[in-house]
Amino acid sequence: MAIDAMKSMEILSKFESGEPVTVAFYYPDQNVMKSLNSIFAKILAKMDFIYLLDTLVTIQREIIINAAKANAKRIFFQEEGMDITDPMQYAQGMARFRNEIVGELETIREKLSKSSLRIRVRIQKTPKGAVINVTNNTPILPEELDRIKLRMEKARSFNDFSEAYEEVYDSTEGAGLGIVLVTLLLKNSGIGVESYKISSNGTATNCELLIPNELRPQEITTNIKQEIIRQVEGIPTFPKNIIELQRLCHDPDSSIAEISNKIMVDPALTSEVMKLSNSAGFITSKRVENVNEAIMTIGLKNLNAILMAASARQILDKRFSKFEQIWSHCNKTAYYARLLAMKFRLQKIVESVYLAGLLHDLGKIVLLSTNLELTNWISEIVNNRKIRTSTIMEEVSIGISHSSIGELIAQHWLFPDYLTQSIRQHHSPLNCPEEFRDQVNITYLANMFCGVESKKYDYFYFEGEVLERYGITSVEQLQKLHQEISNRLEPESQT
Ligand SMILES: [Fe+2]
Ligand SMILES: [Fe+2]
Repeated sequence: MAIDAMKSMEILSKFESGEPVTVAFYYPDQNVMKSLNSIFAKILAKMDFIYLLDTLVTIQREIIINAAKANAKRIFFQEEGMDITDPMQYAQGMARFRNEIVGELETIREKLSKSSLRIRVRIQKTPKGAVINVTNNTPILPEELDRIKLRMEKARSFNDFSEAYEEVYDSTEGAGLGIVLVTLLLKNSGIGVESYKISSNGTATNCELLIPNELRPQEITTNIKQEIIRQVEGIPTFPKNIIELQRLCHDPDSSIAEISNKIMVDPALTSEVMKLSNSAGFITSKRVENVNEAIMTIGLKNLNAILMAASARQILDKRFSKFEQIWSHCNKTAYYARLLAMKFRLQKIVESVYLAGLLHDLGKIVLLSTNLELTNWISEIVNNRKIRTSTIMEEVSIGISHSSIGELIAQHWLFPDYLTQSIRQHHSPLNCPEEFRDQVNITYLANMFCGVESKKYDYFYFEGEVLERYGITSVEQLQKLHQEISNRLEPESQT
């Protein structure tokens, strides 16, 4: 692949001058997709649309996978000696193709490499905006094109993804789902359905997407979203004893005995402080047995973070369902975040990223409590289709993501800006203001490492620009860093 070598400055100046930036390949493996994502990131940043990155990456992934499938289909029919234009043979061949190849596209990779079939992505700046053309050199059959257009038309009538649930779930060809997803993303992002065109000229198929200079987003409003906003408004404020404790933590005249006595009045809080102090990797040789010891070991700044997190969790667990799994994931993220901050010599933010880790997914508690079935369905789709983040799927299905719900809760509780930003952008670090970049990046990285461990993400998913900031330039280096911090995890907190 030549694109890795292509310097980002070169790509940008080429794009800026109106010259097309072109990438051609026979199979969209992770390296190809990663390079394309980084080109998209640079171009969108230039257009001041970096927040569109996940949307664009998801749309392009759908388009490119379809182009690869179309090429694979041609090879399959050729190899089997079947005539793709004969309706009978087409039906038989397609049934076999779906069973044997789709989902296992990798099996045909070798044959694709030996064929003359290629996919070409061409990005060009025009007066209207950036135009991305994805071309594969096999023509689409007229009836296939008609079917896609019909499905796109149908997809336009859906307001959100959950509305399409029945319809796409039953469809025999998984393709229906992709079309609905792309259409809703186009609508929701403001790129617009009319900016996407598919055509065929008898020798090739082309998908054109215009990212217009001006966007017209259509906000998705669902009943669930309304319900969630109502729920967040009804969340109680922090209890007085916590606010008083936080004041004591900041007061140089207060004593540890005074603070620990105040904590011990509340048994639930005491147990949470003990649990977090013991699980968060602060302890080097032995477990802490009481609150006094806990404070001595972790220090007042970390205690303050634990108090805030424990209190937030208590309030949410009482009001919504208890999701132990989410909190233990947050504990691990927090631990990784601390280690990463130390590793990158960002001493000033060690405690703040720890707290951000502890609370980054709090929006999920509200989301899951409001509609567990739908939320599970969303994560199933995210995993199956290898979408980089659940955020955009939540946005097109519910109208709001767990990150944005988290932001609403953070604002409701008057959290400091760095914390609100870390919660809001923990899946989209490139969107955050410069001021909070390190806090957001570290929370993002820690969460990504957890995602790799739970097989949700791959090292290829990591945002290149975030990694570059900390001098990580290869997957090997990233893997090594992960290994290093996970080795330091105590066995008891490995959940
Ligand atoms: Fe998250
Ligand atoms: Fe998370």
